[in-house]
Amino acid sequence: MRVTERVSAIEYAIRDVIPYARKLEKKGKEIIYLNIGDPVKFGFDTPEHVKQALFEAVKEGFNGYSSSEGVLELREAVCEKEKKVNSVEISPENVIVTNGISEAIQMIMAAIVDKGDEILVPGPTYPPYISYVNFFGGKPVSYRTVEENGWQPDVSDIRSKVTDATRGIVVINPNNPCGALYDEKIVKEMVNLAGEYGLLLISDEIYDRIVYEKKFVSTSHLAEDVPVLGLNGFSKAYLMTGWRLGYMYFYDPEGKLRELRDNVVKEARIRLCCNTPVQRAGIEALRGPQDHIKEMVEKLRERRDYSLKRLNELDGISCAKPEGAFYVFPKVHEIGSRWKNDFQFVRDVLENTGILLVHGSGFDVTYGSGHFRGVFLPSIEVLKTAFDRLERFM
Ligand SMILES: Cc1ncc(COP(=O)(O)O)c(C=O)c1O
Repeated sequence: MRVTERVSAIEYAIRDVIPYARKLEKKGKEIIYLNIGDPVKFGFDTPEHVKQALFEAVKEGFNGYSSSEGVLELREAVCEKEKKVNSVEISPENVIVTNGISEAIQMIMAAIVDKGDEILVPGPTYPPYISYVNFFGGKPVSYRTVEENGWQPDVSDIRSKVTDATRGIVVINPNNPCGALYDEKIVKEMVNLAGEYGLLLISDEIYDRIVYEKKFVSTSHLAEDVPVLGLNGFSKAYLMTGWRLGYMYFYDPEGKLRELRDNVVKEARIRLCCNTPVQRAGIEALRGPQDHIKEMVEKLRERRDYSLKRLNELDGISCAKPEGAFYVFPKVHEIGSRWKNDFQFVRDVLENTGILLVHGSGFDVTYGSGHFRGVFLPSIEVLKTAFDRLERFM
């Protein structure tokens, strides 16, 4: 059967590397998977009260379809959370519940990208922002983020890349894959730029509660009259990765996004709704105890510090300090000489050490090449094994 070009071109580096590891595993090699940002796989379990809410929803018979926009009480809880945690005022009719941010990215790109339209994405970026823009016939244009400055966006580079075809700017803060937490001043400059050109600002804030030294400031909080499409979800801070729940909200003080919102709701209708009992658990996640987040961040801080120290002690590797999320994105100096490219490096590491990393070019060819991404989610003991092996390998 013939397959469309748009589908055969899909790439998702983070999971595309797995078959290589599985092949080695079949031959009896022990693999340490440092490729996927899933805290639940590393002993950070879904909070008990959230699990209980899911059981109860199922037992009570909360098992039918919900409204396509999402259960109203959940959308109200999202508004409360955004106000309390991020000082952002939105109303429930401006919230759409999705099957994770992943689905929200697909829906939003479907609604704003026509053939030839350009979307500015951070370089490097979370890969679906590239894939979905391509899928809908658009052109992802990566803007520079500056490694020497903790991977902060270069706003003058963004400005120089705005064309008549530009439709939106993606902000990922805190950032995956670099772990950057953006300076308030830089986010404000991005807001001003979007306002000046009438571009849609898409702000992915899934790691808003996983930050270490500095405080996170939401794009919408700084936006004043500039509209923002905010994206967030339950996978990371609420440890519900496999439950697939997220949301988008329209911060839209002047009603400029109303038509967009109404059309995204039409997309929501054709996929019926999100998992109904999981939405109930989402209400409990947002309104119930939040202690697990602090505990998780404390553990992650220790793992971040350990990983950063070990990486920067390695000959031929340097790594900027992640201020949020749970990724490192180090540079490997001998890519281009000892290794042909970063993919060869990742394959070589896998075959010799059993550690699965992701090649940096999978997050953007221009600004990600020559790097790799790893997670620092495992216990210090597992990280120690991984870094000892990497040290010997290097
Ligand atoms: C920046 C970013 N956005 C979105 C997602 C996907 O989130 P979800 O599980 O809500 O689809 C991830 C997952 O790693 C991510 O890092």
